[in-house]
Amino acid sequence: MIRKTTIYISLFSILFFGGACQKITEVKTLSFAHNMPVSHPVHLGILSLQKKLAEQSDGKLILKIYPDGQLGSEREVLELLQIGSIAMTKVSAAAMANFAPEYKVLGVPYIFRDKAHLFKTLDGPLGEALLQKGSDYWLRGLCFYDAGSRSFYTKEKMIKTPDDLKDLKIRVMNDQMSVDMVNALGASATPMSFGELYTALQQGVVDGAENNPPSLVSSNHYEVCKYYSLDEHSFVPDVVLIGTKFWNRLSPQEQAWLKTAAKESVSAQKRYWAKSVAECMQKLEAAGVEIYRPDQSLFAAKAKRVLDAFSKDPEMKKLVDQIQEIQ
Ligand code: GCU
Repeated sequence: MIRKTTIYISLFSILFFGGACQKITEVKTLSFAHNMPVSHPVHLGILSLQKKLAEQSDGKLILKIYPDGQLGSEREVLELLQIGSIAMTKVSAAAMANFAPEYKVLGVPYIFRDKAHLFKTLDGPLGEALLQKGSDYWLRGLCFYDAGSRSFYTKEKMIKTPDDLKDLKIRVMNDQMSVDMVNALGASATPMSFGELYTALQQGVVDGAENNPPSLVSSNHYEVCKYYSLDEHSFVPDVVLIGTKFWNRLSPQEQAWLKTAAKESVSAQKRYWAKSVAECMQKLEAAGVEIYRPDQSLFAAKAKRVLDAFSKDPEMKKLVDQIQEIQ
């Protein structure tokens, strides 16, 4: 686990040296923190954003990337963005739902028919509205990244039907939708940050977790969990954000460079993602992880009550309807 003192020293360096650099050279450096290792396709997407931004701005706007949760968990980093200590991040849309509740809709189990449906939603008016919505909470969205679909991986047995989840403690992200979903499917949801999970799995604090293949592989959780059941209960994407305080310090020209670079990095990130999923599935098989394709309709039927409860709120129902109407 990252020690708080390390985080404070890093933050001090960002604030002090970042600021000093700015005055002398007129180059602005934006600190970008995220919680994935450098081998992860989301990190590669961020590198593409870094390169495009340097090109667009002719070297005047620079990203300094802090991967691997060096500056804290997704929630901690979002709070640091709000107060203006860190400029940018990439988090799961599920983490954003703790700040802007409208983001919850993206994590509703089985709401997207497939990836094409997800991308059509994100690229359309609803996706744009969600990115804007974050500004009400000092967290301005720039673009969405592909985070694939999430499925269960476990230590002791394969999850073939939702009944197999009974009495299992399953780690979920720190958000209510993930908790409700996993509980509805029959397990006992245990929220914790991604950085704490390897040890929790190893020590038997939890019996399993759920995630996409690149996160399962790059985190090395597959060393402990040898069963992966592709029930694909959610397609919750990732989102790239800038703190509104930093955003307001940029000139209109700098804002335009950043917007363009972020949008342009999306297609590169999707390509890295597709390649990484294929490689990770091979790696899992080679490492002796059993992969199972269950009847997803069993899981979808059981999770339906999460959608029903969520849709009781008229504002949330509007969002659900909007997504379901997209063909
Ligand atoms: C995905 C997602 C991350 C998130 C992680 C998690 O990998 O892209 O942003 O932190 O899941 O399960 O915590």
